[in-house]
Amino acid sequence: MISVTVNTSKPYDVYIGADILSSIGKQARSLGNVSKVCVVSESNVYPLYGSSVEAFLESSGFDVVRFVFPAGEASKNGDTFLRLLDYLSQCGLTRTDLIVALGGGVVGDLAGFAAATFLRGIQLIQVPTTLLAAVDSSVGGKTAIDLPSGKNLAGAFYQPSMVICDIECLNSLPPSLFEDGCAETIKYGILYDRSLFSHLEENGLVFDREAVIGRCVELKRDVVCEDEFDTASRMRLNLGHTIGHGVAACSHFTMSHGRSVAVGIAVISRAAMRKGLLSAEECHRIESILNAFGLPTETTFTPQELIPFILSDKKRSGNTVKLIIPRKIGQCDILPIPVQDLEEWIQVGIAK
Ligand code: GLY
Repeated sequence: MISVTVNTSKPYDVYIGADILSSIGKQARSLGNVSKVCVVSESNVYPLYGSSVEAFLESSGFDVVRFVFPAGEASKNGDTFLRLLDYLSQCGLTRTDLIVALGGGVVGDLAGFAAATFLRGIQLIQVPTTLLAAVDSSVGGKTAIDLPSGKNLAGAFYQPSMVICDIECLNSLPPSLFEDGCAETIKYGILYDRSLFSHLEENGLVFDREAVIGRCVELKRDVVCEDEFDTASRMRLNLGHTIGHGVAACSHFTMSHGRSVAVGIAVISRAAMRKGLLSAEECHRIESILNAFGLPTETTFTPQELIPFILSDKKRSGNTVKLIIPRKIGQCDILPIPVQDLEEWIQVGIAK
């Protein structure tokens, strides 16, 4: 097992390993005066792990309740959020009690926002069950729900009290969902770590899960400790996300987050290469690794179709969009560009 301590305003540990879910009762005991635990999960994940997690918690003496909502991004809304808050209140959870977020990014974001706001903040253990949640959303304290006008528009920075990532949970993922998480994993290699990138290149989909997730969490820990509230260097984590968001929105979110990010990474890498900021060889390695992981690198959407969605995203600031530009594998720059230059950047990156 690997453990990574995240020294944010509220420090916490992230545990990554095989068959560690059974320790959740003992781990939750270490959080102090917890009496009641609400397990928050969704309809695909709860049947797989819900009753085991509850049994582990109950055997450590906790009074356990559960809130299970229909799987999918469509549930990450104000209605589910308010129903969850009301349920926590009806069950009598108090300020020293605990939410366990059991699932992928949707569960973590929604349960995290509920933990941040119920009684002005109760404790939270993130139990990521997807690769994407393991390497990204369960660590760093971003919590949110979607509004009718856009994704993740209401939320809070709220660090969990602990993250327990049992890599055995990844075995139940459909291959396409695992590949989605690989896009974020590859992203860390491009941003910060050439040897992580090479390990992924050499091993493909059978990479060492514990080691790779552990390394991604260490990298995210470093970013989040430097810029917890996402005002500067944390923006690098948006590599591929600005254009990726446009691709996902243009597809009416039929293209997954991971696949859209893969397209975004490829487009911005090609644009960087054609503008002389990234070598052709490194750009080729980036495109090749994405393809090797079953991820797309091209889009048929035009810049004119993509731009309205990109500009409505919360990553814009005034008349400037900050693009994350790969300079070489392991190093990316933040480049503020005027909104009027965006079309040309995307055009250059989309061109075959
Ligand atoms: N998911 C990007 C971040 O945590 O900043």
